[in-house]
Amino acid sequence: MIYSRIVGTGSYLPPNAVSNDDLARRVDTSDEWIVSRTGIRQRHIASAGQTSSDLAVEASSAALATAGVSAGDLDLIIVATSTPDFVFPSTACLVQARLGVKGCPAFDVQAVCSGFVYALALADSLVRAGQARTALIIGSEVFSRILDWSDRSTCVLFGDGAGAVVLRADSRPGVLGSVLHADGSQAGILSTPGNVSGGSVIGVPFLRMDGQAVFKLAVRVLDEVARETVSRCGLTLEDIDWLIPHQANVRILEATAKRLKIPRERLIVTVDKHANTSAASVPLALDVAVRDGRIRAGHRVMLQGVGGGFTWGAALVEM
Ligand code: ACO
Repeated sequence: MIYSRIVGTGSYLPPNAVSNDDLARRVDTSDEWIVSRTGIRQRHIASAGQTSSDLAVEASSAALATAGVSAGDLDLIIVATSTPDFVFPSTACLVQARLGVKGCPAFDVQAVCSGFVYALALADSLVRAGQARTALIIGSEVFSRILDWSDRSTCVLFGDGAGAVVLRADSRPGVLGSVLHADGSQAGILSTPGNVSGGSVIGVPFLRMDGQAVFKLAVRVLDEVARETVSRCGLTLEDIDWLIPHQANVRILEATAKRLKIPRERLIVTVDKHANTSAASVPLALDVAVRDGRIRAGHRVMLQGVGGGFTWGAALVEM
């Protein structure tokens, strides 16, 4: 049997860290309101010229270096993003060129904050089917570009960043199982309902959200999909060493861990420092916890995405 394993992780944050107090100078908000409602203390914001592909290349280079894999060995590149550099070509093709390779398939996955988990599940399937042996999976976002910076109810929640993993074919299972879902009837509770047509922006190019509806849906589906995933793997919730839900809001993370009876110290939280980086949040959190030594070889990690669409999913991986 062929399986896929994560053999390297990497991440990148733009250097410009913006505190809640910095935001309180632009909109009517406060550090106290943001921390108590979301757990967010700061976010990193890309410079004017920095794009998703720029962030993705930095995270990818770190992941390839950790894996000891050269870009020339890659036979699949997937970028999960909702803030691509262009309408086309895909951000994955731009990353491929910047890594100095050509030939392997490269494409983007658009599943908003579930994008990385969707991309990982897809890459795992391709590896297990024998269609790829060494894949680069990236989540990269510049959500700062689609925020209305005068809307305090959304602009305080998001940040920019990228995370990446190298996935390799192996005789031992690494990705133990994954589950993906979507419910398009919930599209309206979180969207950026704009487009480009005839040279103009049509609709609203800024993120719109019904925060309370998103909160309730996220907690419910993160609970359900974790149970469904361990069950598909023939395991139980007690077999999970680390829980990495999409880093949207610390209250969503803690509520999910509580429902799953996973102790707080087994929950990886980076939303305080990164805010919500959409498709980048899960690989960013994974890389942080691998680099600081909490997640080690042999640990089982539940990665969970939930976001616009509505989309959600989970992958249980053994490192
Ligand atoms: N600073 C100060 N006051 C604010 C701010 C702010 N940044 N934003 C909203 N308020 C005010 C509102 O105007 C409202 O005032 P009012 O009572 O005078 O009308 C009051 O705070 C309460 O607003 P609510 O929206 O009811 O606040 P709530 O307690 O629901 O918290 C929040 C809002 C934090 C967005 C919450 O609903 C939430 O966390 N939802 C989850 C959303 C999320 O995480 N989205 C991320 C994207 S989705 C994803 O990644 C899955």
